[in-house]
Amino acid sequence: MSAYRDLLDRLRAVPKKWLVTGAAGFIGSNLVETLLQNGQTVTGLDNFSTGYQKNIDMALAAAGAGAKNFSFTRGDIRDLDTCRALCAGVDYVLHQAALGSVPRSIDDPAASNASNVDGFLNMLLAARDAGVKNFVYASSSSIYGDELTLPNVEDRIGKELSPYAVTKHVNELYAGVFATAYGFSSIGLRYFNVFGQRQDPHGAYLSVIPLWFAGLLKGETLYINGDGETSRDFCFIDNCVQANILAACSTDPKALNQAYNVSFGQQISLTDLFALVRDEVARHKPQVAKAEAVYREFRPGDVRHTRANIGKARELLGFSPEYDVRAGLHKVCPWYVANV
Ligand SMILES: NC(=O)c1ccc[n+]([C@@H]2O[C@H](COP(=O)([O-])OP(=O)(O)OC[C@H]3O[C@@H](n4cnc5c(N)ncnc54)[C@H](O)[C@@H]3O)[C@@H](O)[C@H]2O)c1
Repeated sequence: MSAYRDLLDRLRAVPKKWLVTGAAGFIGSNLVETLLQNGQTVTGLDNFSTGYQKNIDMALAAAGAGAKNFSFTRGDIRDLDTCRALCAGVDYVLHQAALGSVPRSIDDPAASNASNVDGFLNMLLAARDAGVKNFVYASSSSIYGDELTLPNVEDRIGKELSPYAVTKHVNELYAGVFATAYGFSSIGLRYFNVFGQRQDPHGAYLSVIPLWFAGLLKGETLYINGDGETSRDFCFIDNCVQANILAACSTDPKALNQAYNVSFGQQISLTDLFALVRDEVARHKPQVAKAEAVYREFRPGDVRHTRANIGKARELLGFSPEYDVRAGLHKVCPWYVANV
């Protein structure tokens, strides 16, 4: 049995209390769903800036009987008192609340800084003072910036290419200082382009997979930024959830106060990704089987290639991702068909 399946068994036997920030968002709502399905008590926090009540509703519906162990506060991590109130009595914090998206941060760096840096510091302070057992937070592959050597390994980062990347790097710096100065434990997870159910298919700052699923289902013209050779290591949501739960429950001193790559460890070009998404949609809507994307300018701030070395997470957290990009796209496609 994998370390993850074994851990879920142990958590079901002795349930814990969790705080998930960003609970109305894509990743947060999936964390809520899995934790509730496994008998945990979960509090969610979100200000609905980019998240939705319907994400929580779907997570609760999927959780079945476990939904009764959920409570939710509409609030903002930029308010320290809110963070303190929600951290009280919690075993583990999974801190996901932030303004995502590189282009959004280029348009409005102050807003990204306020939620991603000021709000992050509030959460660290609140979690430290409440004595939570472990604080797991969402970092990002964007912090590799202009470091071109692949695969990306945790101790070799480059210069940031966007305000968003700066905010995530600052998170890791603060987390490190909280370990040194206060002995407070945390783990940062550098997500690599996570995708899956409830990733927003609407709005101005869409990620490429929801954008293409939604566009193909609506019959729109779709674009590839750049020459199509830009590549990403895409991470299916279930792999991301696994990493969070393993990290939170880690007690190995060597594993704490570290940042880990979280992905599958394979890269795919945007051209190949488009074909995979189109082929999945074509199973439900045969008229898109021959759809082609239009190539256009590169997008400022985008990293050219990413591929995670996930050896550190495998070794220290027992991380064992179960879905590659093809399997993940196959699993999520019916969700887009039902929800676009
Ligand atoms: N999705 C990815 O591929 C990816 C990659 C790298 C890192 N991340 C990080 O993972 C985390 C979750 O991302 P996601 O994709 O689920 O995005 P999301 O936008 O769906 O979720 C973020 C949630 O945080 C909430 N939020 C934002 N600012 C807040 C504030 N000040 N107070 C309270 N709630 C606030 C939003 O309303 C939203 O529900 C973020 O920290 C993001 O930066 C995501």
